[in-house]
Amino acid sequence: MSAFYEETVLSVKHYTDTLFSFRITRPQAFRFRAGEFVMIGLEGEKKPLMRAYSIASPTWDEELEFYSIKVADGALTSRLQHIKEGDKILLGKKPVGTLVTDALTPGKRLFFFSTGTGFAPFASLIREPDVYERFDEVIVTHTCRTLAELTYSRDLVESVLNDELVGEMANGKLRYVSSVTREDGPLMGRITDLIENGKLFEVLGESSLDPTSDRVMICGSSAMLADTRAIVEKFGFKEGSNAAPADYVYEKAFVGDGI
Ligand code: FAD
Ligand code: A2P
Repeated sequence: MSAFYEETVLSVKHYTDTLFSFRITRPQAFRFRAGEFVMIGLEGEKKPLMRAYSIASPTWDEELEFYSIKVADGALTSRLQHIKEGDKILLGKKPVGTLVTDALTPGKRLFFFSTGTGFAPFASLIREPDVYERFDEVIVTHTCRTLAELTYSRDLVESVLNDELVGEMANGKLRYVSSVTREDGPLMGRITDLIENGKLFEVLGESSLDPTSDRVMICGSSAMLADTRAIVEKFGFKEGSNAAPADYVYEKAFVGDGI
C-alpha cells in the first residue's frame, strides 16, 4: 500500500508572485483536526518530493485547501506553483500538529497571531463551528510585508462572514486585524510591536492580553514565534499540549530560516 494518496487538483488561485492557494480532492478516509498539517508533494525523479503544509480548509469541507509560498529555487514550490486543474498531488495519510483547540483550556477570547503563510492553519480554524462554540470571540491577526500579501486572508474572512454554515456563528465573534510592515497601510507594524505598544487593543477597542480569559495560537517564522512567545509568556501564558492543555500553542510556518 502506498504511503500517500494521489489526489487531483480542482482549482488554483494566484495572489502575488510569491503566494497562491489551491484545492484538491479529499479522500473519504482522510480525517484531521482543524489547525493540523500534513505532508503534500509531487512525484520526484527517484522518490516523492514532500513538504509539510497546514490544511487551510475546515474539517467539514469535502475538498482540501492549501495556501502556499512560491520559492523560486525551492525544490517543491518551484514546481508546485505551476500546477493546474486536473494535475495530481501526493497527500500524506497522517495529519498532525500542535495548533489544535484540544491543546487549550477553555477561555473567552481566542487570539490567532500569524505572519506570511502562517495564516494557513487559521484559515481552517476560522471556518470551524466548534471554535465559535468554545469561545465568545475569535480574533485573527495577519501581518505581511505588503498589502497584496494580505489578499488571501482578507477575502477569506469576508467569505466566512457570508458563509451559509458558519457565517451566523462567526458574525459578531470573528474579528480580523491585518497590518503591513514594508509599505504604507491602514495599520502598520509587526504583531509583536502592536501587542506591546497596545495598538492592537486600541484597534479592537478591548483590553490587553490576560491569561485568565484569553487563549492564543501563534504561527509564523522562527523569529516571529520566538518573539511572540516571549511576549505572551511575559503576560503569564503557559504553553499547552494535547496531553496537558493550557493557555497558548504555536507552530512554525516553515523551517530553514536559520533560527
Ligand atoms: P524549501 O527547500 O522547503 O525551502 C526553501 C526556503 O524557503 C526555506 O529555507 C525558507 O527560508 C523559505 N520558505 C519555505 N517555506 C516558506 C514559507 N511558507 N514562507 C516563507 N518562506 C518559506 N509552506 C506553505 O507555503 N504553506 C503552508 O501551509 C506551510 N505549512 C507548513 C507547516 C509546517 C509544520 C512546516 C514545518 C512547514 C510548512 N510550510 C508551509 C513550509 C513548506 O513545508 C515548504 O518549506 C515550502 O513549501 C517550500 O518548499 P520548497 O521545497 O519549495 O523549498
Ligand atoms: P518585517 O517586514 O519588519 O520583517 P517574512 O515575509 O519575512 O516571513 O515576514 C512576514 C511578516 O512577519 C513581515 O511583516 C515581517 O516584518 C514580520 N516579522 C518578521 N520577523 C518578525 C518577528 N521576529 N516578530 C514579529 N514579526 C516578524
